[in-house]
Amino acid sequence: MPMPMLSLCKPQHVPPRLIAPILLSLILLSGFVYYQTLNRPTSLHLVPYTPPVHTVALGHPTFEDVREYERALPQHRPQSRPRYVFFPREAWGTGWNNVFQEQLLNTHLAYLANRGYVFVDYIARDHPPFPDTLPNGTRHMLHIPMNALTSGPTGGGSWGDGVDAAVHPRPISQRWWDVACPAEKVVEVHMAETMRELNITDESTGEERLVRWAEKLRGMEEECVSVIGGTPFDYMFIGSDKVVSIWSSYGSSPTLTQYAWSALITRALSRNFALFSPGPSPPPSLSPTLSRITTTPGAGSKSAPYPLTAFFPLRASEPPIPGLLALHLRRGDYADHCKNLAGWGSDYNTWNKMGNPEFRATGRYPSLPDHLTVRENETRYDAAYAHCWPSPDAIVERVRAVREGRNLRTVYMATNGEPEWVGAIAARLRADGWDQVASSLDMELAPDEFAVSQAVDMGVLVAAEVFIGNGFSSVSSNVVQLRLAGGRGPDTSRFW
Ligand SMILES: *[C@@H]1O[C@H](CO)[C@@H](O)[C@H](O)[C@H]1NC(C)=O
Ligand SMILES: *[C@@H]1O[C@H](CO)[C@@H](O)[C@H](O)[C@H]1NC(C)=O
Ligand SMILES: *[C@@H]1O[C@H](CO)[C@@H](O)[C@H](O)[C@H]1NC(C)=O
Repeated sequence: MPMPMLSLCKPQHVPPRLIAPILLSLILLSGFVYYQTLNRPTSLHLVPYTPPVHTVALGHPTFEDVREYERALPQHRPQSRPRYVFFPREAWGTGWNNVFQEQLLNTHLAYLANRGYVFVDYIARDHPPFPDTLPNGTRHMLHIPMNALTSGPTGGGSWGDGVDAAVHPRPISQRWWDVACPAEKVVEVHMAETMRELNITDESTGEERLVRWAEKLRGMEEECVSVIGGTPFDYMFIGSDKVVSIWSSYGSSPTLTQYAWSALITRALSRNFALFSPGPSPPPSLSPTLSRITTTPGAGSKSAPYPLTAFFPLRASEPPIPGLLALHLRRGDYADHCKNLAGWGSDYNTWNKMGNPEFRATGRYPSLPDHLTVRENETRYDAAYAHCWPSPDAIVERVRAVREGRNLRTVYMATNGEPEWVGAIAARLRADGWDQVASSLDMELAPDEFAVSQAVDMGVLVAAEVFIGNGFSSVSSNVVQLRLAGGRGPDTSRFW
């Protein structure tokens, strides 16, 4: 049967002078269609995650539910105007809290640059939570997805209502970056060269560093930018006094104010809530969605945890757990490290420094009440050591002083201390009138929660009404910044 549509296109119906333009148009059109097919947005997608065989063989958690959550984020689809920035050299080879400090700052930098920050897995190189040696002696390191730790903006979560995601793209996973930014689309920005171009030296303030980098990355037309050969906020810079001036912009940024712990951490806090509060049941922010859970005996325990979909990521801005005083008692490796820190003349870590008189005097920063004080009759070394490695007497005395004038009833100790030492401190605090004293050692954690147990502890430290931390610790510093961003008064974050 003849097709009438085709006959319409027969050249004999077309005046000869139009044949060449029509043919040209057809060629251009087919080229365009071919180009569109090559770049057809729907051809880009993330395949479901398959755990590596060795992860399974070692019995490590595979985080498949977390991987699926990340895969399903709405920004992991072709965007009309994609703009991303990747920092592949972020805090290479240091502990999670050092990496995390830098990741949060880079999230904010990417936000100011109108680009989607690219988040990666955390690789447990330094303190592996489980044995990770294969039978042939090679290590197979645990890869922890970002959304096992945080589901705030750094993990691709929303910037909040006031922010236009068309202007400030939400952060994306490295998996999506690999799909959306194949090598031929990636433009590399070299660290040292760009520092020279931007006239950034060791003398520049943190604010200058942030603003100039943001301007540079914002001004680039390319969709996929990778910053190589170092990172703008390396650990030397983060450890210096210069970092503090960034707070004016960063402290009220959506990176921090929209911060939320992962659903995995929220689930762990929900199960263990009785350790933090003698109250009847968890608040709504820590309660599972009833339609997503079963009430069979044992459901919700660490051996039969509820599905992650039953929990909303806990926001730093939720009200504190009333009556809870949380302590960060860093032991273990700090026995030696405190001697190093005292010997080097180190100051408090990053945001913990905002309590220093010179920063308080500017009126630009939150007034943290404590800083590294040195009494008249002691050396700086002894003072620093005592702040870093408080004795049991000093701990009990400090806790008593901080309780003064406040209605605090329960204590939670986030600690890597020996059970005997922790038990002795707990007994002394109970004897000093506390209703309830619990610690990290009491936590009931499923294996995937155990893999992020340090962050679970930090969830408690941020949620507490009052916190006493270790001024030298990046764990405490990250807790302090999240407490401030969540609206806790500066006077509720103290140090030993
Ligand atoms: C050990 O086994 C793993 C997994 O099969 C392999 O990737 C690695 O190269 C092996 N290492 C050595 C030293 O043979
Ligand atoms: C670079 O910065 C220094 C101060 O940090 C300033 O004195 C100098 O004029 C700047 N140079 C340029 C080219 O902007
Ligand atoms: C320093 O003085 C304080 C009281 O001002 C006292 O409690 C403390 O024991 C003294 N320390 C030393 C090392 O003498």
